[in-house]
Amino acid sequence: MASAQLRAVTCTAPVNIAVIKYWGKRDEELILPINSSLSVTLHQDQLKTTTTAAISKAFTEDRIWLNGREEDVTQPRLQACLREIRRLAKKQKSAGGEDPLTPSYKVHVASVNNFPTAAGLASSAAGYACLAYALARVYGVDDDLSEVARRGSGSACRSLYGGFVEWQMGQQADGKDSVARQVAPESHWPELRVLILVVSAEKKQTGSTVGMQTSVDTSALLRFRAEKVVPARMAEMVRCVKERDFPAFGQLTMKDSNQFHATCLDTFPPISYLNDTSRRVMQLVHRFNSHHGQTKVAYSFDAGPNAVIFTLDHTVPEFLAAVKHSFPPEANGDPFLKGLPVTPAPLSDALKAALAMEPSPGAIKYVIATQAGPGPQTLDNPQEHLLGPDGLPK
Ligand code: DP6
Repeated sequence: MASAQLRAVTCTAPVNIAVIKYWGKRDEELILPINSSLSVTLHQDQLKTTTTAAISKAFTEDRIWLNGREEDVTQPRLQACLREIRRLAKKQKSAGGEDPLTPSYKVHVASVNNFPTAAGLASSAAGYACLAYALARVYGVDDDLSEVARRGSGSACRSLYGGFVEWQMGQQADGKDSVARQVAPESHWPELRVLILVVSAEKKQTGSTVGMQTSVDTSALLRFRAEKVVPARMAEMVRCVKERDFPAFGQLTMKDSNQFHATCLDTFPPISYLNDTSRRVMQLVHRFNSHHGQTKVAYSFDAGPNAVIFTLDHTVPEFLAAVKHSFPPEANGDPFLKGLPVTPAPLSDALKAALAMEPSPGAIKYVIATQAGPGPQTLDNPQEHLLGPDGLPK
């Protein structure tokens, strides 16, 4: 993998979905949150970023290509990640690291997603986690990478681990204790399933960075949430995960998503990320659960209208049938279900009646079925490098 000229590594990193949401920073420069958060890392078989980082004495400048297009490397968050990794590399070198390649070598980075950016799925978490991980491998850094990833995008530090991950907000002004930690590995809850309902939407939403800062500046509800609500919810969510208590996990996941969207409405001017389809999915979930007399399915929404559904494996076929009944797929030849296979199940007349939904054809474009998965990986095969021996995209 290493040559005298160029050293390249290729890594992959996952997307994560928060079940206790991060919304609001106490330090915008260091990206320090006003509350802790907890997420589920999604499996990379369905959603992942792949990044190659290469360093060489011959490179004259840092360069980056995202999904095949060269991007501006002077972008402040990217610069913060590069500065931080070089600081760690220098620290390690002066502590006796053997690596002959110096931290001052310039880097070329190429990154691609295996899912369409247009789907509106948060890609910055996987992207910055993958960047941090690949930079660490290429510069030979063994430290905790929370800060490197976090400086790219707050939620990215949670994508550094698989399974169930908490981002502890920390107390220190320098952010050294604002770190991500694994609560449980993905193998801990093998029956858990995640369905991403990709909703058709016309316009781009307010970005999370701008949205959450406006909320910090104007929403009293957000302050109350961070100080008085989230600490107890974090403890309860850790319990739900450890005990694999799906009904309690599901209810808390829905309540926390709803409270996040309530703080958005409490922001001035208000922000709304949910659309009519999102609200219909919420209604479908609640009616499905009340028909069964228990919480079998839960929803969560981030800064956009797509619904993320959590459930257990044996509930997936019936819930998917309910989704298809309420949101009949468009007959455009594209598969409605992507990812993990699901055995089709009929929908009982009793459940159909309980849902009492007017069908909304085409309102859900497709569904990605996935599960909890592992953290970042290093790919050993040089064939998989996105950069050639000249350090340019292949
Ligand atoms: C709603 O991590 O994208 O997805 O730190 O400004 O880059 P920045 O924000 P970002 O915010 C994610 C917000 C969220 C909730 C969550 O993932 O916890």
